[in-house]
Order: sequence, then structure tokens, then C-alpha cells
Amino acid sequence: MTQDELKKLVGEAALAYVVPGTVVGVGTGSTVNCFIDALATMKDRIAGAVSSSEKSTERLRAHGITVLDSNTVPSIPVYIDGADEIDHRGHMVKGGGAALTREKIVADTAERFVCIADESKLVDVLGAFPLPVEVIPMAAAQVARRLEALGGQPTLRAGVVTDNGCHILDVRGLRITDPAAMERDINQWPGVVTVGIFARNRASVCLLGTAQGVKTLTF
Ligand code: A5P
Repeated sequence: MTQDELKKLVGEAALAYVVPGTVVGVGTGSTVNCFIDALATMKDRIAGAVSSSEKSTERLRAHGITVLDSNTVPSIPVYIDGADEIDHRGHMVKGGGAALTREKIVADTAERFVCIADESKLVDVLGAFPLPVEVIPMAAAQVARRLEALGGQPTLRAGVVTDNGCHILDVRGLRITDPAAMERDINQWPGVVTVGIFARNRASVCLLGTAQGVKTLTF
């Protein structure tokens, strides 16, 4: 199976986790796009969606799915999103699509995070994928110096302005052995909007697309 077929497989499998009659949290990315397309088949059975990016909002609306303001939805049963990497405890690196901050906001309102990913995303230790860090533009150089002091090699993602008007640093060379500690540490630096480590808001389930079909990991 191709990577695209695996994404479609897990996008469709995620429908089983949608709770009818409730609002669904929707992530961002190519795997989530497959989920959004599948969700369209049950749009009359949900109360709408809370979206994590302008791109997902556009796709949801194109399918006729109601998108609600996150401020009006205090909690949701499930948030469905992809990942750039996921480890065997459900910790993730996210933000390859630059939507990490809104993704974390929506994930934080959810009772369950269901990660959908093809098997190439499963890793023993996070960090081979460059870690995205969203920063307020005037803090980019100072945050980059701090990331270098941690042993990383940050580069500014060229030409990218996030939905929040901020910039992204991609950090290579980190071996993230304690995701919770690194998330807490980087998040408190002045000028950091969000670090793309999802430890506090880790996945409780991962639907992994494999050549043998969908494998369900629970954490
Ligand atoms: C978006 O900012 C990311 O967090 C995505 O969830 C992540 O990059 C996975 O995207 P794909 O499904 O396109 O691999």
C-alpha cells in the first residue's frame, strides 16, 4: 500500500471514534484531510467541528460541515489529528504543517486525542523529525540561541507565517528522551508561543496504518 492509501485507511478508521451528536475536534495535515473527507459522510450526525487551522476550516466548510468557534465549546469528547512522530507512549512531535498552536489548544479541550498516522511516524525516541517551535517574530533570534544551548540546530522556516501571525523555528539534532520536561522547559521561554512536543496533550489512541491494515495502539 502507498503512504496515501495508508492515510486514507486511518482517516476512515477514525470515524469509529466520532461520538454521534457531539462536536468533533479536527486537526491539520494530509492525513486529517482524509479524515475530513470521511467525516463528510456523517456530517448530519454530528453537532459540528472545532478546527485547528484555516486550511482544515476551509475543507470542512467545503463539505458542508459546521465549524464552531472554540471559545463556545468548552469540551469535546474526541480530537483527531495526525503527527510528524509518535513514540510508544503516545508522545508526539507536531507542527510540520505549522498549525501546532491551534492543534494544542483544541487537543487541550478534548477528553481523548486519537492520532492517525502511517507507520513511518512511529519512533522509539522523538527528535529525528525537526522539532517545530512557534515564536513571536521579535523573539526568534533569542529563542534560537536558547535552542542551540540545548544542543539543537534551529532554522527559521522560510516564507511561513502561521495562522497566528508568528514564525516557526525547525530544530534539528535533538534527542527528546524526556518529552514532558522538554515541553515544559521550552514553553516557558519568553517569545515561545508553542513547542511542537505534545506530551501533556499526548495521544490516548493511535490508529497506525500498516501494510497489514490498521493497528490500534492505546496508551
Ligand atoms: C500540522 O501542523 C501537523 O501537526 C500535522 O498534524 C502533522 O504534520 C502531520 O501531517 P501529515 O498528516 O500531513 O503527515
